[in-house]
Amino acid sequence: MLWSLVHEEKSLEMTSKTRSAPPHAMAMLESLRGLGYSTAAALADIIDNSISAGASEVRVDFAWSGANSRVSILDNGRGMTDEELENAMRLGDKNPLEIRSAHDLGRFGMGLKTASLSQCRRLTVATVKEGVESCLRWDLDELAATPVGGWLLFEGPAHGSEPFVSVPGRQNGGTLVLWEVMDRVVTPGYTSDSFHDLIDGVESHLAMVFHRMLQGPRPRLTLFLNNRPVSPWDPFMSGHPAKPWASPIAKLPTDYGVVSVQCHVLPHQDALNAAELKANAGPEGWTTQQGFYVYRNERLLVAGGWLGLGSPRPWNREEIHRLTRIRLDIPNTADAEWKIDIRKSKARPPVTLRPWLTLHAENARERARRVFAYRGTPTPAKGNEPIEQAWRVDRLKSGMRYRIEETHPSVAAVLESAKSHAPLIRSMLRVIEETVPVQRIWLDTVENKETPRTSFEGEPNAAVIEVARVLFDDLIERKGLSVEEARKSMARTEPFQKYPALVATLGSTK
Ligand SMILES: Nc1ncnc2c1ncn2[C@@H]1O[C@H](COP(=O)(O)OP(=O)(O)O)[C@@H](O)[C@H]1O
Ligand SMILES: [Mg+2]
Repeated sequence: MLWSLVHEEKSLEMTSKTRSAPPHAMAMLESLRGLGYSTAAALADIIDNSISAGASEVRVDFAWSGANSRVSILDNGRGMTDEELENAMRLGDKNPLEIRSAHDLGRFGMGLKTASLSQCRRLTVATVKEGVESCLRWDLDELAATPVGGWLLFEGPAHGSEPFVSVPGRQNGGTLVLWEVMDRVVTPGYTSDSFHDLIDGVESHLAMVFHRMLQGPRPRLTLFLNNRPVSPWDPFMSGHPAKPWASPIAKLPTDYGVVSVQCHVLPHQDALNAAELKANAGPEGWTTQQGFYVYRNERLLVAGGWLGLGSPRPWNREEIHRLTRIRLDIPNTADAEWKIDIRKSKARPPVTLRPWLTLHAENARERARRVFAYRGTPTPAKGNEPIEQAWRVDRLKSGMRYRIEETHPSVAAVLESAKSHAPLIRSMLRVIEETVPVQRIWLDTVENKETPRTSFEGEPNAAVIEVARVLFDDLIERKGLSVEEARKSMARTEPFQKYPALVATLGSTK
């Protein structure tokens, strides 16, 4: 405990003289309000307690009533006895160094108080265990008005708040946390619309933080927000047919338990419809949501970012890596090594793990970069026949080079027909290859937040048809293919594999 420098008898035996310097309660409570919780993060901390108490259902309710607006969190967990509740309300109820049960989501013995008081001036907790109900309250305004001062808890709900603190039909146990006098939320000019926007933000945050507990055929947790169930938001788009890649789960045993990572590359935006693109962006948007997702006991602590990894300079969240998301699981025995903060919003990997994490991240970033930069990576149209690509990437010791594929039908057609001119054409191709405006494309991509257009995108249909027809005629006239064969060949030639309807009409309109 931070301030329990209690003047113990032991100190009498010591040579140093001591003084007791307990904090002033009001000053301490007021300053603890400034830890910097958002409403959503504060709620997540309260819900953590419910989950640790074995709750399978948590109901969060926002009630708008101007300056008297309130928020309640009701769970069906095991509840607390009167003594347990008194301890729970104490600041620094448990020593952070204590060993916790493997599924406990708590650590500092602070969250219930600090998270709540960051949002409100009155925190009432009513709880039922074995049929016995207890209720205690931290009330900053009433405390300030009490002449004795000190660390006074009030018994029972505030006058007039009785209807809000019943733990209905939960004789088997359950806990209700009530926030009132929400001065940090309902500030001057705050309207019911602002309150509803806040609820929306809270919903997407909770859907993300608890998604692993909310998803699956038999979810561990049901979470209601104003009586509507919260659906999980899965950052990894599990099961989406266009998802290019997920690594196997890699595990690393450490002194404080097993750490595991699984890397994911999400689909290119062209492979998603507008609704999917929006839904999978995440609360902060695609670019911000890239990187590591750190989970402690399946509860999300950190949503994106590169954890200070990367050399020579730490990696930033760049547009080109926005399709990378990496799941990282740590046990709650790793809290000190990972520097978990009170708000449970930060984690830093221990130095010994950085090389291992960097290796996985580099691999995932490289793959994601390729998917991002290669607009509409050719996907086999039907069956598994490979697509004839117009470009290939050569990875050499000296770096990457972009080469025109001479086997692409439209290139092959020219080279084969050119005969003695073939060397001239080859040298022209080399000039093109050597002058691909890579820098320019890269800059435009980053600045405009989208890849430049390719594959005839946005071109009138006539332009596509004309190019397709020239190639199609060559296949028929020079190579002697049947109409059917030529169409088949076109259907797996970049970029025509994107225009199956057009390919189907080739040869019939002539
Ligand atoms: N909803 C709840 N149900 C049962 N016990 C609770 C609940 N909320 C808090 N507690 C008890 O209060 C203690 C203090 O909670 P908190 O201040 O959040 O610290 P921490 O979660 O780090 O232990 C918890 O360890 C738990 O014993
Ligand atoms: Mg807690």
